[in-house]
This record gives sequence, structure tokens and C-alpha cells, in this order.
Amino acid sequence: MFKNLPKDVRIIEVGPRDGLQNEKVVLSTEDKVQFIDKLVVAGLKSIEVTSFVRADKIPQMSDAKELFATISKKEYFNDIHAPCLVPNLKGMQIAIEQGVKEVAIFTATSDTFNKKNINATLAESLKRFEPVVALANKHNMKIRGYVSTVFGCPYEGETSVDALLSTIATLKDFGCYEVSLGDTIGVGNPLQTKNILERVFKTFSAKDIALHFHDTRGMALANILAALELGALNFDASAAGLGGCPYAKGATGNVATEDVVHMFESMGINTGVDMKKLAASSQFILNKLNKETPSKYLKAFLSTGI
Ligand code: HMG
Ligand code: MG
Repeated sequence: MFKNLPKDVRIIEVGPRDGLQNEKVVLSTEDKVQFIDKLVVAGLKSIEVTSFVRADKIPQMSDAKELFATISKKEYFNDIHAPCLVPNLKGMQIAIEQGVKEVAIFTATSDTFNKKNINATLAESLKRFEPVVALANKHNMKIRGYVSTVFGCPYEGETSVDALLSTIATLKDFGCYEVSLGDTIGVGNPLQTKNILERVFKTFSAKDIALHFHDTRGMALANILAALELGALNFDASAAGLGGCPYAKGATGNVATEDVVHMFESMGINTGVDMKKLAASSQFILNKLNKETPSKYLKAFLSTGI
């Protein structure tokens, strides 16, 4: 174990989107902007800022236009990746109007989850993305892809790794520079992570794949370690461990960015993130949401400083 550890890993912060989309409290745009500002100061270079989806489906993201308009005027904007989730042509048209430079398209290996989440099966969603990616490519936008329910679906149980592999291939053909594999409801385990990634990395380079673990059952760090062993380099995480998908029964927070950064940095793997400043971002957003973090590390850090 641990024979070929990388020197650096990349953290993709999804707190402002995945972290906030499932919260009861709908924050003001100003609070979200301050949260993003603080995440940038903490050293995060990829921050998923919002989603252009139906406001009645995800009310927490209903200020996506205003939020993006503010973020895109920031001094730091050209120095970071700021992907926005786009589910269809309508979302893409809004993204173009707003001057979005990077979009994230998303689907799942489970048709039942996909129907509930984006009102399309896997096959329908990929068809639906064809004109979306044509526009993204025409406008020189970067495209990131997501595949959800890779480790299990709340409605269908186990999902097909063959379907995953062909979906990654389609997303790569679309021009996605990276495809993020989601354990949407946090049911994965390290052996499953190894088995899935061994197949994925046979065909796709580790630099083109990200892992998106939710920590619902406390397995996210174990799964990240298993993925690291297999050569994974890109990890999605959410400050303070906020998050969840309203269309995935029982989905709770993403793995906390603090837990991931602490694990990597304590193993001598560079994340580029300043823990003190990250914890300050999380403390800010937790106060606004009036809630406690599920992250053991963040709790310890806030009370002891180590
Ligand atoms: P639909 O109802 O199939 O869309 O929604 P439609 O094309 O039939 O249009 C119906 C109405 O919605 C129309 O309005 C459209 O204009 C409007 P009307 O004419 O009736 O007034 N509409 C839109 N409005 C704003 N933005 C849009 C848009 N599209 C249509 N983009 C749709 C399909 C996908 C839009 C909808 O189901 C939706 O918004 N779903 C929310 C999906 C979502 O955000 N889920 C959470 C994120 S995914 C996730 O969390 C997982 C992830 O983290 C990875 C992991 O953990 O595994 C990424
Ligand atoms: Mg998620």
C-alpha cells in the first residue's frame, strides 16, 4: 500500500452548489458570494458555483443568474474554474447569456434516479446533451461531466459498470475534460471503489476522472484512499460536509473538504488549500445556515486548532 502516492491532488469544491442545494435555509446571493470569496482565499481553484436548473425544482439555486453575474466580475474570476451545472438546452442558453466559461452536464447510471432528477433516462439525457455540448464547444466553454449513482441507486440498488464505462466514453466524446463519478447516496465501499476504478482506469486516464463521494455512511475517506491507491488524482468535496441531492432519498453531505484536505496534507500530499482559511469559510456558511458540521476534523480543528 502507498507505494506510488502522488505529490499533488486536485480538490473540486462543490459546496456552493451541491452543498447548498439541499439546505432548508435559502441563503441570500450576497451570503453565497461571500462564501465563494472565502473559498477562493482558502486556495480552492475549482469551485462549482451554481446551477441553471428549474427554480421550482431547486429553489436554493434560483438566484443563479445574479450570483454568476457577481462572481464573473470578481478579480479572481479568470484564475479559477467556476463550473455551473446545466441540465438541458434552456440551462445552456442561460449560461451563454451569463458569459459562463465552464459548464457541468450531469446524468446517472440509474434511469429511475435520472427520471426523478432531470426527467430523462440515461439514453434520453445523453441525446439531450448533444445540442448542449455543440453550443458549449462553439462558445469555447470547458465542459465537465457527472455520472451519478455509480456506487448504487436509492431506487434501483446496484447499477451497471458497463453503463458507466459507455457513459464516460460518450461524455469524453462530447469534449468533457473530466468526468466525475458520483456516490450520490454514500453507499460505496473501498473494495467496490477498487473494482470499479480498475475497470475505469483500464480505458480512461486518471487525470480525466474525478471522484465525488458523499459521506452518508462514513465511508467517504476510506473510498478516497482506495481511489488514491488506484491512481485517482481529482476529488470533489464540499466545505463543512454540506450537501445532498433532493432527488436521491437519504442523500446527505458530500465528504467535507476539511476531512479530505487534512487526510492528504497529513500524508504529505499537497492540496494547495489553507486549512485555517477553509475552516473560516465553513464557519461563515454554517453560521448562516445555523447548523453544525458533520465533519469530525472540522469540529476538532475549530475547538483545538489542530
Ligand atoms: P423538464 O420539466 O423536463 O423541462 O425539467 P421541460 O423542458 O419540459 O420544461 C418545463 C418547464 O421548465 C418550462 O417552463 C421550461 O422553460 C422550464 P414553462 O414553459 O412550463 O414555464 N425549464 C427551465 N427553467 C430553468 N432552467 C432550466 C429549464 N429547463 C426547462 N434549465 C429539468 C428538466 C432538468 C430542467 C428539471 O428536471 C430540473 O431542473 N431538475 C433539477 C435537477 C438538479 O438540479 N438536481 C440536483 C443536481 S444533480 C446532483 O446533485 C448529483 C451530483 O451532485 C453528483 C452526485 O452526487 O452523484 C451532480
Ligand atoms: Mg452530489
